[in-house]
Amino acid sequence: MSTPAAEHAPGLASADGIAARARGLTKAYGSGETAVIALDSVDVDIVRGRFTAVMGPSGSGKSTLMHCLAGLDTVSAGQVWLGNTEITGLKDSELTRLRRDRVGFMFQSFNLIPTLNALENITLPMDIAGRKPDRQWLDRVIDTLGLRDRLRHRPAQLSGGQQQRVACARALASRPELIFADEPTGNLDSRAGLEVLGFLREAVDRLHQTVVMVTHDPGAAAHSDLVLFLADGRIVDEMRRPTAEAVLERMKRFDVIRAPSGEGALRSDGPAPDKD
Ligand SMILES: Nc1ncnc2c1ncn2[C@@H]1O[C@H](COP(=O)(O)OP(=O)(O)OP(=O)(O)O)[C@@H](O)[C@H]1O
Ligand SMILES: [Mg+2]
Repeated sequence: MSTPAAEHAPGLASADGIAARARGLTKAYGSGETAVIALDSVDVDIVRGRFTAVMGPSGSGKSTLMHCLAGLDTVSAGQVWLGNTEITGLKDSELTRLRRDRVGFMFQSFNLIPTLNALENITLPMDIAGRKPDRQWLDRVIDTLGLRDRLRHRPAQLSGGQQQRVACARALASRPELIFADEPTGNLDSRAGLEVLGFLREAVDRLHQTVVMVTHDPGAAAHSDLVLFLADGRIVDEMRRPTAEAVLERMKRFDVIRAPSGEGALRSDGPAPDKD
């Protein structure tokens, strides 16, 4: 196991400031003529205690990036760290434990267990880990997400938005230090969506958790501290303290600008944005 790359951007005193890191992260699916390069040598630092949004066209590699950073998928080349631990090359059992202890994941396709009710789905990761939920925290998560009267329902008895809220609650229930959320507001009405975003924001501001969120919605991205823009498997731009208008403008340029080939990806490891 090696330590993270030595170079640090200004403003980062130590590797403790990094919740997740990738260097040269490459992910290819298939081989030969049908091979798809989903991620093309991505360098990225996810700074601890910050809310990072990931945007980019469909197929640009957003979900793949999240899965690889969270240790849910293997990489074709490159290295990934969670905190100070390099996860590329870890044994499955070690990776599973690390992930369980540190990471909460909200999948684009919920991944709820159909035979379990909402509450059982929410507490499943902790049940597997043999850990007791913090009752107060769990209640707060359940109430904030408006799931109180749906806890005994199975996924098939819930609307898409309700299933999404269950998936959200499951990711938050164990209070993981690092939360990955793949389009968490995609199926929610605007009120529920704002609540989820507010909750993620609060997790960062008050509980010092780290959130990485994929979204197609400039309004949702505006809740973050930093937006990373992906195109063709590379990070091609970043925006600090985003506004919905600025993000929308940037997104429009994806139609006309393609990432030049052979250039290194931008890194997101600059100093933390000043808080107003
Ligand atoms: N299991 C797989 N097998 C083959 N190709 C895959 C697989 N998973 C993803 N890909 C390809 O990798 C690329 C990146 O996919 P990814 O799911 O990361 O995109 P995305 O940015 O999350 O898109 P969306 O916004 O539609 O969710 C796409 O071209 C996709 O077709
Ligand atoms: Mg996706």
